Amino acid sequence: MPMKLPFFKPKKEIPLQEELTSVPEHVAIIMDGNGRWAKKRGLPRIAGHKEGMDVVKKTVETAVKYNVKILTLFAFSTENWKRPKSEVEYLLKLPKEFLHIYLPDLMKNNVRIETIGDFDSLPGFTKEAVQYAKEKTKNNDGLLLNFALNYGSRSEILSAIKLMMKDLDNDKFSLEQLDENLLSEYLYTHGLTDPDLLIRTSGEQRLSNFLLWQLAYTEFWFTDVLWPDFSEEIFVEALMDYQRRSRRYGGI
Ligand code: IPE
Ligand code: IPE
Ligand code: MG
Repeated sequence: MPMKLPFFKPKKEIPLQEELTSVPEHVAIIMDGNGRWAKKRGLPRIAGHKEGMDVVKKTVETAVKYNVKILTLFAFSTENWKRPKSEVEYLLKLPKEFLHIYLPDLMKNNVRIETIGDFDSLPGFTKEAVQYAKEKTKNNDGLLLNFALNYGSRSEILSAIKLMMKDLDNDKFSLEQLDENLLSEYLYTHGLTDPDLLIRTSGEQRLSNFLLWQLAYTEFWFTDVLWPDFSEEIFVEALMDYQRRSRRYGGI
């Protein structure tokens, strides 16, 4: 009689149609469509956000699996404050919930957490949870998981200009020294390479004030899939598509 073994569901392997040889170093994602996902099911919008949170975890695992180095996720925009107060509050509580559940797994996966955006204007409960996670993961050297939280590209560029003008006034550099690299140093993304691939879910084909400077030569990939339905298969489809593209940067 064979011994009865406990049943473990094997992790489904995604069959790759071709080998993934050129994986983007930095992937940025506009995670959109949570509200519509919930509406389709007759659920409140926040149910879509909750589902979306679990998909973030899976997406991080996929990024680790395929050796992406930086994953920037648009989680809350400076324009999202326009939403009803209860939804804003829910969205800003999600980072705390996410980290409460998943921080141990992220540690195990050697993930480092960072943010871009106007951090100081976030509510205390968001800041504390995220700050704790940044501190805890700061020595991890695997995937950099970069949350765009209270992020808006125009305000980022504007605050960079203000800081630069101050430093120029204080003779920290001369006008002749001001070039694209120096400007990049004043953005939230200083020290990061520009995204190689931008994914936006939910069928919208716009940037919604996301990384306007940094996406100058990024490859864009859109899908009608709503964020809560995003999966490893779809992520891999985007990665495959990316490696078939020819990036010319204006050359030939
Ligand atoms: C994305 O889903 C989450 C955030 C913008 C925070 P939405 O909430 O925008 O969902 P839709 O676009 O209304 O379906
Ligand atoms: C962009 O999605 C912001 C995030 C995903 C966090 P939105 O749903 O806010 O964008 P618009 O309003 O459709 O342009
Ligand atoms: Mg939306």
